[in-house]
Amino acid sequence: MNSLTVVILAAGLGTRMKSKRAKVLHRAGGLTLIEHVVNTALELTTRDHVVSVIGHQAEHVEQILAPRGIRFVRQTEQKGTGHAVMVCREMIEPLGGLVMVLYGDCPLLSAATLRRLTELEQAAGYAATLITTTLEDPTGYGRIVLDKVGNVQAIVEQRAATPEQLAIKLSNPGIYCFRGDLLWKHISELEPNNPAHELYLTDMVEIFRRHNHSVGTLHLEDPNQLLGINTRIELAAVDQILRERKVREVMLAGVTVEKPETVTIDSQVSIGPDTIVEPFARILGTTRIGEDCRIGAGAIVHDSELADGVDIGPYTIVGTSHLETGAHVGPFARLRMFNHVEARAHVGNFVELKKTRLGAGAKAMHLAYLGDSDIGEKVNIGAGTITCNYDGIQKHQTKIGDGAFVGSNSTLVAPIEVGGESYVGAGSVITHPVPSGSLALGRSRQVNKEGWAQRRKKKT
Ligand code: UD1
Ligand code: CA
Repeated sequence: MNSLTVVILAAGLGTRMKSKRAKVLHRAGGLTLIEHVVNTALELTTRDHVVSVIGHQAEHVEQILAPRGIRFVRQTEQKGTGHAVMVCREMIEPLGGLVMVLYGDCPLLSAATLRRLTELEQAAGYAATLITTTLEDPTGYGRIVLDKVGNVQAIVEQRAATPEQLAIKLSNPGIYCFRGDLLWKHISELEPNNPAHELYLTDMVEIFRRHNHSVGTLHLEDPNQLLGINTRIELAAVDQILRERKVREVMLAGVTVEKPETVTIDSQVSIGPDTIVEPFARILGTTRIGEDCRIGAGAIVHDSELADGVDIGPYTIVGTSHLETGAHVGPFARLRMFNHVEARAHVGNFVELKKTRLGAGAKAMHLAYLGDSDIGEKVNIGAGTITCNYDGIQKHQTKIGDGAFVGSNSTLVAPIEVGGESYVGAGSVITHPVPSGSLALGRSRQVNKEGWAQRRKKKT
């Protein structure tokens, strides 16, 4: 088998997106478009054989793709798809073998389809093989013109097509596999003789024909995976397809998903068997969820790690947090960021945690704010407890020892330490450290004036 180099064209802005952001940086299924294409390419060849041509917002694209270790070539001026391949020549020509060209805005393609393309190219020895598909509405796509015996004669762009050519439904999704030697031998023959004055890669077909090299096709019946994105309407369509794929994948792996059409699960998420995902849940980013969990209706979980048996109640938000076995959170709770909820701890309704550890078996069941806190095992946080972690200038830490009981409506002014097994009386404002095992009362004593109501009535 010849070596395979994959070139991914991603330098364009994508004018029809009407966006400040380069098209390939828009997201579908939880990943940028370019990440989907690069992931597919990496299923076909090694990362030193994957080259992305970048231009618009190149730094940003490089940054997003950096963890994948692929190579980049800058195309500073976008002079067309042919020009984009030309700028890679120095890097790719020495690698020899086959050159596959993919567009960064076509994220649904499967590696299996591309493998069929290379196999066909390899077996037949064509100068190039391209994927073709029949589209009911081919608007915007290049049309594939066949000669009398059915061989590919040319690809004509929408703008340059004659009325008869516009009626052709055989379309060019923009996926090609070239014999590298012939590509480099003839690519300099491309000319910008089109309304856009660009070098069109699609013109290679006619150039090969001129030199009596044949061009093969792989016709795909199902055009779904060839959907390219030019507008936000196509972006939404691709997003929906990716969502459906992902939900099916987790269901086949043993996850119950109620009303799957309402649920959003990003492509990198993993979920263990017998977990139940309720309607309208959104599970995003790098989240990993164990077995036997529940993700309640309308909950949002992003970039978090949930061990087995974690229960996330409805309408709860969990971000960049780690929840251990049997933890319960919600309904209506918010784990804002960098929290660690240990085994069997409970976080109830209208409780917010930020940068807080809640020890094993600890409970904060109602209406509390716990920020920058280290809360020990089996601590009970009463309703309405607030850590005053911010003095207007700096954030400060609160530490609560194992087994402490913080009465309702307590205000803990940080930096502060509440010792283990101690009690804080309800309604206290705590500004001094509480020693272990003691009772702290930080409130004024109650005064009862007996008969007062009676006296008042007489006066008025
Ligand atoms: C291209 C094809 C068309 C095909 C369609 C499928 C050409 C001339 N036409 O048209 O036949 O039906 O794709 O979607 O190839 N790019 C660069 N540098 C450039 C120009 C483009 O990197 O100088 C990248 C873009 O970022 C994009 C991809 O190439 O990811 C396709 O470019 P685009 O302008 O969208 O091509 P189309 O006009 O759609
Ligand atoms: Ca396009």
